Amino acid sequence: MNTLNSNKPVNERCPGMSYQDIVKSDFKRAPDGSVPAVLRPVIDKTLPTTDIPFERYVSQAWFDLEMEQVWARTWQMACRLEHLQQLGDYFVYDVGYWSIVIVKTETGIRGYYNSCLHRGTKLKPSNSSGFTGNQIQCPYHAWTWSLTGELMNVPCAWEFEHLDYGANRLPEVRVDTWAGFVFINLNPDAMPLMAYLEVIPEHFSHWWPFDDWYVVSHVEKELSCNWKTAQEAFMEAYHTPFVHPELTKVVGDWNMQHDIYGPHTSRDLCAMAVTSPSRPHAISQEEMLENRLAGGPQTKAKGVIPPGQSARSVIAARMRKDTLRKYGKDLSYLSDAECIDSLKYNLFPNLFIYGGPGLPQLHRVRPVGNDPHHCIMEFIRLMPKPRGEPGPEPAPVIRLREDQSFATVEGVDAFSSRVLDQDTNNLRWQHEGMRTSRKKHESLSSYQESRIRHFHMTLERYMSADAGP
Ligand code: FES
Ligand SMILES: [Fe+2]
Repeated sequence: MNTLNSNKPVNERCPGMSYQDIVKSDFKRAPDGSVPAVLRPVIDKTLPTTDIPFERYVSQAWFDLEMEQVWARTWQMACRLEHLQQLGDYFVYDVGYWSIVIVKTETGIRGYYNSCLHRGTKLKPSNSSGFTGNQIQCPYHAWTWSLTGELMNVPCAWEFEHLDYGANRLPEVRVDTWAGFVFINLNPDAMPLMAYLEVIPEHFSHWWPFDDWYVVSHVEKELSCNWKTAQEAFMEAYHTPFVHPELTKVVGDWNMQHDIYGPHTSRDLCAMAVTSPSRPHAISQEEMLENRLAGGPQTKAKGVIPPGQSARSVIAARMRKDTLRKYGKDLSYLSDAECIDSLKYNLFPNLFIYGGPGLPQLHRVRPVGNDPHHCIMEFIRLMPKPRGEPGPEPAPVIRLREDQSFATVEGVDAFSSRVLDQDTNNLRWQHEGMRTSRKKHESLSSYQESRIRHFHMTLERYMSADAGP
């Protein structure tokens, strides 16, 4: 274990342009010419740099405690409101061995433990969604509840004269919504969702709200690693030059900005259409434009860069124009950075949600069953609903095994599938390496991996406390 550098202050500065420098030199900034306030850095210099034990990733005892201390006490995004459009629509959210049926009822959206009160059978299969009519019926002996959870019918009722129907209502979990996302929490005493989300609602109010968007693609992949191993691959860009060398032409990786807020939220801001500080020479603005990432994956942007502007400003201007034409949405109030950069927020314990219109997507990671060595990672893309039309159905989930490439999924472009394959291909080997480790700890960097350290501090608080932070 590394004992040299515990509690040293964070040094955030990668040599060269910082994210703030990039935004300050953008063509379109805040109306007063400064960096928009919502993009300013928030660094926690008090985070300890203590090593993290691998036991947290590989031990069954730690996993079992997480199921009770973390997954049963935190707000988790379960589905979108468009999964629950009409009365009787349901959606099953599974996390580890917990399974919750979320239902649209006469009295709003409710969430029930997915377990029959007769002999425990799941009321709806895991990973299922659909329409349950005006009742919820167990598939085994047909005990039946109303949508609002009252026990309505027990076959052979003469055998159950001892049964208190009132006491056999379906037990509920907390449900709340924000920006079209449905969240659940198994803890009846949990803090309100809006408080739990910390800065997210206020920050996202600066951008195009997701209320009127829908799920246009939803891919999940089984991975042979702990859920935290998978998640942490998306909390730093330290690995980018080595795992995704092609990205260094068009992404600011080592100079990404990492911000830390309350216990539940942190974010990274990653500049698009810039050269990585890991490359010895910056590529030209014209070449950058050709290699654009934002505003349409793999589309080549032909165009002239006007004097005093950059590839970033041309890409942002094109995005504003396209958005106005396609969706009638005027994004002229947004800076170039807010239009095209990756503004990725992490919500404890398992959600990444991207702000701004540049990369409207989510990642979510969930443990599977009772197994610290497997998880599911999901990649969900959102699009604005078409103008003047009823909301389209959310895209069905496409499920990939560990050995399947994202390139097999229709609608995932070649560039994105390659990056996602590169990220997920490492994870089995990292997890197996943790299990065979002699050192038994990881030593994280002070700034680029600070969000992983922040995540572990919150994890420790939940694991040791009776109530959440
Ligand atoms: S287990 Fe559900 S009705 Fe018997
Ligand atoms: Fe990556």
